[in-house]
Amino acid sequence: MSRHLDLIGIGPGNPDWLTLAAVDAIEHLDVLFVVLKEHDVDDLVEFRRELLRRHRPGAEAEGMRIVELQDAPRPWKTADNYKEAVATWRRQRLDQWTHAVADNLADGQRGGFLVWGDPGLFESTLAIVKKLIAAVDVDGGVPIELNVIPGISSSLSLASRHQIPLNRQGRALQISPARLLADGMPEGVDDVIVMLDGRQTFSLIDPTGIDIYWAAYIGTPDEILISGDLAEVRDEILSARADAEKRLGWVFDTYLLRRR
Ligand SMILES: C[S@@+](CC[C@H](N)C(=O)[O-])C[C@H]1O[C@@H](n2cnc3c(N)ncnc32)[C@H](O)[C@@H]1O
Repeated sequence: MSRHLDLIGIGPGNPDWLTLAAVDAIEHLDVLFVVLKEHDVDDLVEFRRELLRRHRPGAEAEGMRIVELQDAPRPWKTADNYKEAVATWRRQRLDQWTHAVADNLADGQRGGFLVWGDPGLFESTLAIVKKLIAAVDVDGGVPIELNVIPGISSSLSLASRHQIPLNRQGRALQISPARLLADGMPEGVDDVIVMLDGRQTFSLIDPTGIDIYWAAYIGTPDEILISGDLAEVRDEILSARADAEKRLGWVFDTYLLRRR
């Protein structure tokens, strides 16, 4: 008696950048759980559809079920008690996913989630699914075996697209959410990959002695790459980013800051 859940890393937006293990997992799913976010971007939803068309063209005929999980709106930072509001939002998400798995994944079946980039980097899916599996064990339900399939992370593909190594010989590399860089590069760190930047933090810090390798929409037909001395290229990046956001309605960007 057992059930399976696959967390399938699907890379940062290029359908050719899937591993053979990811393709194999998609081909064998009985149930696909799809998390729909409040402001889901059409292009990202379309990318997942494209993967299914390629790797599971007969999904409906074969009886693969698609179960949609509509995320509640994330609490606003202005909520009276923001921490409490986020904790409640997380609990609701866990409850919803637990019920969806209990109702839709039968003994012997394989369910899965398609996870952007790599499931281990700035993603909450893995943590929620682990809690869900622990709760099933406590409740004595049919056990669930977890399988996490690595994907190409946007942070790593940044290096291949710019054709640079991410680390310098014998040196460390940090991966950071943009909010931790509000005061500039951390002390003692010379190479930082920055993700989740909604405020163009690179344009707010002191650029002296820093190079930037910036990329948006990596792997997609809309990909943009700009690199150089931060003081010289930051305005070019700001304008390219603003134009693209206006044209496409959304933007995903990431960059390496490197102290010279
Ligand atoms: C919630 S995190 C998910 C990261 C994902 N797990 C990964 O491994 O790439 C979303 C952030 O990843 C970065 N990102 C994801 N896909 C990207 C892409 N195609 N191009 C540039 N940045 C991307 C952006 O910094 C975005 O804010």
